[in-house]
Amino acid sequence: MCRIFAAVISSGDVASTLKIGLKRLEYGGYDSSGMATIADNSLIIKKGVGKLDEVDSVVHFDQMKGRIGIAHNRWATHGYPTTINAHPQVDCGSRVAVVHNGIIENYMELKEELIDQGHTFKSRTDTEVIAHLIERSLNAGDDFVTAAIKSSKELQGSFAIAALYNGEPNKIIAIKQESPLLLGIGDGMNFAASDASAFIDKTDLIIPLEDGDLAVIDNLGYKILRIDSGKGVNRDFVKLSMKVEDISKGIYSHYMLKEIMEQPLSLRYTLELQSVYLDVITELMDRSRTVYLVGSGTSYNSCLAGSYIYSKIGAFPTIPALASEFGEQYGRALDVDSSLILVSQSGETADVLKVASLARMRASTVLGITNVVGSTLTRITRAYIIQQAGPEIGVAATKTYTSQLLTHLKLALNIGRKRGKLSQSEMDDYTTAFELLPELTEKILKGVYNSTKELAENLSGTNHIFFMGRGMNTATAYEGRLKLLEISYMIATAYSAGESKHGPIALIDKGVPVIFVVPSDETRKTMISNIMEIKARGGKIVVIGQDDDKELMEISDKFIPLPSMPDIITPIGYILPLQLFAYHMALVKGLDPDKPRNLAKSVTVQ
Ligand code: G6P
Repeated sequence: MCRIFAAVISSGDVASTLKIGLKRLEYGGYDSSGMATIADNSLIIKKGVGKLDEVDSVVHFDQMKGRIGIAHNRWATHGYPTTINAHPQVDCGSRVAVVHNGIIENYMELKEELIDQGHTFKSRTDTEVIAHLIERSLNAGDDFVTAAIKSSKELQGSFAIAALYNGEPNKIIAIKQESPLLLGIGDGMNFAASDASAFIDKTDLIIPLEDGDLAVIDNLGYKILRIDSGKGVNRDFVKLSMKVEDISKGIYSHYMLKEIMEQPLSLRYTLELQSVYLDVITELMDRSRTVYLVGSGTSYNSCLAGSYIYSKIGAFPTIPALASEFGEQYGRALDVDSSLILVSQSGETADVLKVASLARMRASTVLGITNVVGSTLTRITRAYIIQQAGPEIGVAATKTYTSQLLTHLKLALNIGRKRGKLSQSEMDDYTTAFELLPELTEKILKGVYNSTKELAENLSGTNHIFFMGRGMNTATAYEGRLKLLEISYMIATAYSAGESKHGPIALIDKGVPVIFVVPSDETRKTMISNIMEIKARGGKIVVIGQDDDKELMEISDKFIPLPSMPDIITPIGYILPLQLFAYHMALVKGLDPDKPRNLAKSVTVQ
């Protein structure tokens, strides 16, 4: 979803700093890119359609002069991805430039009003109204800050905005309402960005802004005002532990591959989660009558797996739910006895944040699991856990999925212990199983790298791939399918294997590939029956199973062997080959797995 970045430095030209930051924010959208700077009291604007490098090769961002600027990567919402619709957007006189992430819900009314008053619009974006609103106030004699405050009051919807005005050429104005925005405070240079990775090589000191904040930034400092009152406010600093190396590709050709391969390490970090945070969440879960696990995309799949995990380890019921459906499905059922664990890698997904508002209105307890320190989720939850997976840049979530699973596992163990559902030896066995993960995942990743590549080459010509699992690994099938379709654009279907007879089997014909997730647990026997049903109808049987399982080997056309592992951690072990399979498939098809079309890492609109 669009990403914005603004920077002001004491001397030299800011364009290269903006470009580097924009590159790091590219995961948020790559329909178009653009930048505005001010030099000699004039606005300079360059923008174009496509990925940042493509636009840069035409417009040469580095040639822009000026020590202050704003920049944008777009994920189109209002208006096609054209150069005119690319940000920055400007007012009639090209004196005000604006970049924006979010949606201005009342932009049509505002646009009509402004057109009636003589303003001329060039784009089809909702963003352009912001530039014209500021212009209208400036024309009425207001200064930049007053104009920005007045304009913000007119806007409805979600927005993170950065704006420049050539009449006050040393200031950036940054405004936050529901979309992510934080300040970076450096030495003789200051920043505002959707995400700290944009400026992490310059400073690790951030200030997360709150909804309704407007920041005025120059090279020497910043001040934060409340939009409603115009009064100044103090916000806390956060010191980040993120380093530049964490957000570079290192030896890998793609972020996705890097993030898949670093799961042994990310899981090691998640293993070290401090028990004090787990304990607070466990305590609040324990007091609730109903606990919902809520997320979108991959995070939802972790909630689905989580619902089995809490039941199996902790004998504790939970309800997994899609964030986008939650209000309709469970909204009126929420009350003071409900808890929600909101799971969101970015901590910024609009559908998830909306659930938080609803739950708070109904006096429910809102808890969170996220990977991003300082994200909105961390500020609106009563208690939260940071997954500690490290920054994830690839649009397809990989290491954060397995670290979410491990977080659920640890919480489940805690709740089982607290409720007296586990014997000492069971607790010890679970702890030992979790501790195996870094070494085990390393072994699996090495073992399946080539076989998943061969499988991708082998299946690249097929039209439709099925994924089937049972029990906890139904979620593995869903997540394997999501990875494949989002980065290779192949049609893929995932089902709980038990449901295959209730519909999907009608699609099975000679040679249709079905990937079965079959650990050696209590689901194995029934899975074999399901495999035989598909085999009898000519389906091509691909099985991910335990390396010593001769029966599975015999009935499959292609067998991907995994080492033996405790049942409870199979959702982590068995997703790894499916992540690599999707990655290889994207490469076989000549696609960039880090930048799937139409997708964004963090979806900040509903
Ligand atoms: C987008 C991403 C997915 C992600 C989902 C939820 O759709 O492309 O990879 O799983 O958002 O994101 P979150 O940050 O809330 O986990």
